[in-house]
Amino acid sequence: MSIIQIKNLSKNFGRRTAVNDISFDIEAGSLFGFIGPNGAGKTTTIRVLTTLLKPSAGQVLVDGHSVVKQPREVRKVMGYMPDFFGVYNDMTVWEYLDFFCGCYEIEFNQRKSLISDLLELVDLSKRHDDYVDSLSRGMKQRLSLARSLVHDPKVLVLDEPASGLDPRARVEFRELLVELRRLNKTIFFSSHILSDIAEICNQVGIVEQGNLISVGHIDTLKRQLRETHHIRLRVMGDTVERAKSILATSQGVGEVEADPASDGDWDIIAEFSGDKPAVTTLLKQLVLADVPILSFAAETDSLEDVFMKLTEGGIL
Ligand SMILES: Nc1ncnc2c1ncn2[C@@H]1O[C@H](COP(=O)(O)OP(=O)(O)OP(=O)(O)O)[C@@H](O)[C@H]1O
Ligand SMILES: [Mg+2]
Repeated sequence: MSIIQIKNLSKNFGRRTAVNDISFDIEAGSLFGFIGPNGAGKTTTIRVLTTLLKPSAGQVLVDGHSVVKQPREVRKVMGYMPDFFGVYNDMTVWEYLDFFCGCYEIEFNQRKSLISDLLELVDLSKRHDDYVDSLSRGMKQRLSLARSLVHDPKVLVLDEPASGLDPRARVEFRELLVELRRLNKTIFFSSHILSDIAEICNQVGIVEQGNLISVGHIDTLKRQLRETHHIRLRVMGDTVERAKSILATSQGVGEVEADPASDGDWDIIAEFSGDKPAVTTLLKQLVLADVPILSFAAETDSLEDVFMKLTEGGIL
């Protein structure tokens, strides 16, 4: 079942289109990663989803409720962690969570155990009497996550929850999201760091300049990754043209670039989209054509390379 349904959503600010006719559904229980470079429209989409902005066109349903017509119903089932923390002078961690319990009308007698459970979940139990503003950035992010959970929402929407965290804290934050998914939450989170998403998400959406470039299961993206490589070889100088022409007529080979290397040899890099047997066939062809190969390697693109290609060239 789709717990979030986005249909033909657009949002304009004056003449600027921040989100351009995007549509996708998110299955209940998913960990959905929304990825795109700065200015892609992630926060705008999230603000519509969380009922903070009205769409210019289109429809968004959360757990069957329209974000425009039934915002209160949407807010009841949704926890939101914005991309900024805000300033909370003279407020302790405990008071901060108690304040949000009040906002969500949590009964007084339930608050103590709820707050201590939440602090334990985000590993801040020891800091519960510290001032919020004295916490480190990573701790504030975790506290903000705890805040978004006070009313036990089904859906969590997190805008760049891992931004500004050090590598270790990023890993810990990822583990926390996985833990929350195990607790049956549907999680929608944005990032511009692909590895944050690739490791833990089952569904991903890629946006650029307001357009949805790709959406679907992470396995599809990974499959594409496996099929995208470069062939890198070094040949002896006078045979570079022969090598290039063989490459140019071989199946699966895209753009071919040759650059002079040391001792008059040449380095050739060819885009290649074949599978493993195709790599060996290509090597065989070069050898049979008597190209003196000094080195040969088939390299798989990193997920970051794939992302750059997807967003630059609109491959999908
Ligand atoms: N309140 C606003 N008024 C005018 N333009 C806006 C407003 N909010 C966002 N925009 C524009 O909409 C576009 C998308 O912005 P958005 O904040 O959604 O991007 P983002 O993907 O969240 O980027 P980042 O990774 O930097 O957070 C940008 O061009 C931005 O300038
Ligand atoms: Mg943003």
